[in-house]
This record gives sequence, C-alpha cells and structure tokens, in this order.
Amino acid sequence: MRSLWKATASLPEFPELVGDVRTDVLIIGGGIAGILTAYLLHEKGVRYVLVEKGRICSGTTGNTTAKITFQHGLIYDKILKSDGTEAARKYLAANRAAFDKYAELCGKTDCDYEIKDNYVYSTDDRRKLEKEVEALEKIGYIADLCENVPLPVKTVGAVKFPDQAQFNPLKFLSSVAEGLNIYENTFVREMRGNTAVTDKGKIHADTVIAATHFPFINKHGSYFLKLYQHRSYVIALENAQDVNGMYVDECDTGLSFRNYEGLLLLGGGGHRTGKKGGNWAELRAFAAKKYPDSREKHFWATQDCMSLDGIPYIGRYSAKTHGFYVASGFNKWGMTGSMTAAMLLSDMILGKRNGFASVFDPSRSIVKPQLFINGAEAVCNLLTPSKKRCPHLGCALKWNEAERSWDCPCHGSRFTEHGRVLDNPANGDLPK
Ligand code: FES
Repeated sequence: MRSLWKATASLPEFPELVGDVRTDVLIIGGGIAGILTAYLLHEKGVRYVLVEKGRICSGTTGNTTAKITFQHGLIYDKILKSDGTEAARKYLAANRAAFDKYAELCGKTDCDYEIKDNYVYSTDDRRKLEKEVEALEKIGYIADLCENVPLPVKTVGAVKFPDQAQFNPLKFLSSVAEGLNIYENTFVREMRGNTAVTDKGKIHADTVIAATHFPFINKHGSYFLKLYQHRSYVIALENAQDVNGMYVDECDTGLSFRNYEGLLLLGGGGHRTGKKGGNWAELRAFAAKKYPDSREKHFWATQDCMSLDGIPYIGRYSAKTHGFYVASGFNKWGMTGSMTAAMLLSDMILGKRNGFASVFDPSRSIVKPQLFINGAEAVCNLLTPSKKRCPHLGCALKWNEAERSWDCPCHGSRFTEHGRVLDNPANGDLPK
C-alpha cells in the first residue's frame, strides 16, 4: 500500500544525528508542519534542527488528499456560534494567509499546483449549508450556494469556495526540504527539560516544537483528552470521471473527490481509529456501481488528529511549559493547517506579534461535547478485558481486518500484526 504521492515523488535523504548538538530551536517531527516551520525559520536565519524518527513525510503528510483550501467543512458557522464573529473572522484570515503563502511557494516549485474550486456538499441537510453561507457573509466572505454538483451522488446542494488549489504535496516538499537542517532516523526517546534524548546523542535547545502528529508528552497539555484520531481511505481510479474541482461531504463519514493527472481520487470509508467503518470496501463498492469501467491504480489510508472544537492546537504546549510549542489537531485540513502553524510558530519564535494566535491557543477551554465522548471512550476501553493492550495509556486494542493492524480506540495508536508501532502517540512496539 503506497499512496499516489509516494509513488510519484522522490524525497531528498538526510543523515541520522550522531553525537550531541546545541541549537536555538528544535523541531521534532518531519511532516509538513515541521518542514514548513523549519523552512520559515531557515529563511529568517534562525539556528534550528529538525529531527524525524523515520523518513520525512512518511506519515499523514504522504497520505493526504492534498487540497489547499480555507473551506474546512462547515467550520465557520460552528466557530461563529461557539466563539463569536471575531474568532471566525480570524480563523478565515489565518487560513487565507496560509493559502496565499502556498501560492507564493508553489510558484517556485514544480508540484503540479492547480487552481480549482472547492465544494462542501450535503446529501440530506440543506439548512446546514444555508447557515454556513450566512455565517460566512457575517464575517465578510461571500460563498455561493450551488444547487447541484457534477457527482454521482444525490445532494441537496453545496457551498462553493472558488479558486482554491490542489497539488502534489511530496513534489512540493521535496523542493522545500532541500537544504534544510534535517536529521532522519533520529527518534527522540525522552525529553529532559528542553533537552531531547535520542539513541545516538542529545539535542539541547532553547525552544522546542512538537510537530509529531499527536503530541508525545502526556504530562502537560492533556492532549490525551483533547484529541482523538480518525482514519480515512482513498482509492485512485483510472478511467473514472473528471470532476474539475474538489468536493467533500459535510458529513464525517461521507465521500470526497478530486483528480490528479487523469486519476480520480475517491476518499471516504472513514471512522474513529479503533472502530469499524466502511474502509476501502465501501469505496470499491461505490466505484463498481458508479464507475464500472474504471481501474484502481493506487489505494492508501490516512490518519488525522481531531481536536475538540474543530480548530487546531497551535502555540504554547501548555500554560505551564516555557519554550515548548505544539502544532496538532488539523482535523483533516492539514495543508492550510500546517502552513498556519508554521507562520504562527515562526512569528512566536521571532517575537513577532501574530493577531491570530488566540484562536489556535492550545490552552483554550476544553469544555466541549467531544471531551465527554473522548472520556467515555477512554474509560470503556481501559475497562475492556483484552490481552493486547496499548503501551500509551493501556487501552484495549482492536483488530483492524482491512489493514491487518491492532488499533487503539482511545487516542489512535496503531501497530502491525506483529506489534511494530505504526502511528503515535505510543512511542514503542507492543511487548513480545
Ligand atoms: Fe492512548 Fe492507546 S493511544 S491508550
């Protein structure tokens, strides 16, 4: 199983860190958020080191559907209701700035960047779409409410954001990462204050950024309560349909569509990690029915960190930690989310005021309905008897037949059938 991006781009290789180093900023995690942050700091002449436990872009970044858009489902009505007009306006402005930064950088790289309209459709609730358009109008963005979309699904309409973009993320990052101070195969086993301990040395840093997908320190920030993980699946079909845009169902378990080089990328089958869902079987059944002459060329799956309120956690790791920052919880919108994180964190490190920081503050209120769902899930799975237990915090693991892996419903760690860790927050294999 290799994503289309991994099959079509070749990434530069970086050495393993051997020995002790001292730096101003240590970035842990070589996905898109870490690499973009390193790139912006590099541009400003900041001394930094980025370490990645395996190869760069081997996690969610290499398995995304790579839509660059500031339309994130129906988020604006949600933020407007929970946090007010100013917060919704700032969220939009921060993500528009991220979009513009991509336009600038993609103009300098060969990454198949294309401008496309983005649509969020609903199959059954037009009122939700109307409310999103009204919310957007209140914060100064005029979106279209379309009657139909050219998809083989019955919809009640779609909210359209014109002139968004799609690209090949690994072609983009292979160019961005070139020349950065990156070490691969360098696993941070432990933090002692602001010193990272790896297998072959220590890194002393004034400032540390955790860009590790799921934040890996449990003691601070309560991320084990504030995040859960969601799996989604993609198949790339030849001889299917040119949909000339990017489309996603407003419902979490719905389908998404976009093209790349003559292929249709059909996404969906999603579920909370460790739970049952449609996976590739659902997508293949849909393709057989709606695109009977198509052929599957690639298939892959991805894992997203979901925050309590749909807004990423970007900023200080916790109110009590100093010189320690985090970027996580991009809620399936990791392209603009990562760029927003890179811009915000680099401003914070450079001591520059960023007017959007308060919206993404990881220490904001956690009293949200999703908190109780996450809590109930944890209690239930901690009490479930099972021989296979997750080394993160001890929940019972569930067998995922489609991917032949052991998955944790609490916070989404995953392991191969032989116990090798695939996805964090667990930072080691299952005991033999
Ligand atoms: Fe936290 Fe499994 S991922 S207990």
